[in-house]
Amino acid sequence: MRKKRKREHLQLICDLADGPDTNGFEDIHFVPNCLPGINPDEIDTAVVFCGKRLQVPFLINAITGGIPEAVAMNRALARVARRLGIPLAVGSQAAALQDKSCRPSYAVVREENPAGFILANLSCAVSVQEALEAVEMIEADALQLHLNAAQEAMMPGGEGDLCFRDYRQKIKLLAKTLPVPVVVKETGCGIAREQALELLDTGIAALDVGGKGGANFILVESCRSKQDYGQPFSRWGLSTAVSLIEVLKSVGTQLDVVAAGGIRNGLEAAKALSLGAKLVGVAAPLVRNFYRRGEQAVENCLLQFRRQLQQTMLLLGVCNWAELQQRPLVILGDTGKWLERRGLDPGCFARRKPSA
Ligand SMILES: Cc1cc2nc3c(=O)[nH]c(=O)nc-3n(C[C@H](O)[C@H](O)[C@H](O)COP(=O)(O)O)c2cc1C
Repeated sequence: MRKKRKREHLQLICDLADGPDTNGFEDIHFVPNCLPGINPDEIDTAVVFCGKRLQVPFLINAITGGIPEAVAMNRALARVARRLGIPLAVGSQAAALQDKSCRPSYAVVREENPAGFILANLSCAVSVQEALEAVEMIEADALQLHLNAAQEAMMPGGEGDLCFRDYRQKIKLLAKTLPVPVVVKETGCGIAREQALELLDTGIAALDVGGKGGANFILVESCRSKQDYGQPFSRWGLSTAVSLIEVLKSVGTQLDVVAAGGIRNGLEAAKALSLGAKLVGVAAPLVRNFYRRGEQAVENCLLQFRRQLQQTMLLLGVCNWAELQQRPLVILGDTGKWLERRGLDPGCFARRKPSA
């Protein structure tokens, strides 16, 4: 059943569009700078994430593994990650914990990218032993624990695991015991500030907001069920922009924050980094590019992101991540209204002043 589901996910992500809601970044605007005062060779896009310096602030987010077709995709993703110096997460390794014959579809990423920053991936419900196995399987540098309550709830015919009790305690135990940093991630519905605060003292290293606006697993599962009962929930969740701000306002600089969910170009990525994200995760566009035009198209997609980020930094006159975070951002529209209603002053970003 799990293998069939994995195949259907890849197919449906290619067939379905992002959304229907947007990621919210259309409401966020940089204040342009007509005197940028820098040259392209002064721009440094490096960030420090989970204690490691990374040249490019993008993440190939968790996608797949556990089925024969995943070998080719994970191989291609790992090769692109190696060439561009980008971290990479594998898809959930639950399949390989149950069936050892699935392991090569994950281990291929370490074969292709021996020195890269690679993240293992499992649900929060796993035992310490299972998490250790997943980390060892790919010699992972960090472990992603995914949260996907809405997806599990929409899965057809009792497939979903709906036992959500004690997740916080489980995360705390895993973060305390594992030898690598733990990243907790949502997968398309976002993380609100209340839960970010709850997760703050669990010992995790990072949060990936996984907001609304991109791959929509409520609709994916609804299509799989062939009954469309998930339709009323198609707009469930926080947009990525809203979730990112809610999370950053809660955790400040105590955790590294990944912006993901419908981020589709380097300008949106620059906005997320300017708000305070350390990395920008991308998943669905890489699947679509891989199936339509192969490995080179995946690389071109990420190269375009990088170029657009560099162009934004050049136009703003900022040389690095720290300077990008000092640029004013004006937040309007539904994103601004949401933040106001939640008591999170959106105007604070517009009043930012670059330090001399
Ligand atoms: C085909 C596919 C499979 C995915 N499988 C996983 C998974 O196994 N584990 C996980 O944590 N996230 C998984 N995700 C979620 C992504 O990592 C990401 O959080 C989400 O797709 C939002 O980013 P996007 O809009 O750029 O796709 C998957 C995404 C796609 C497109």
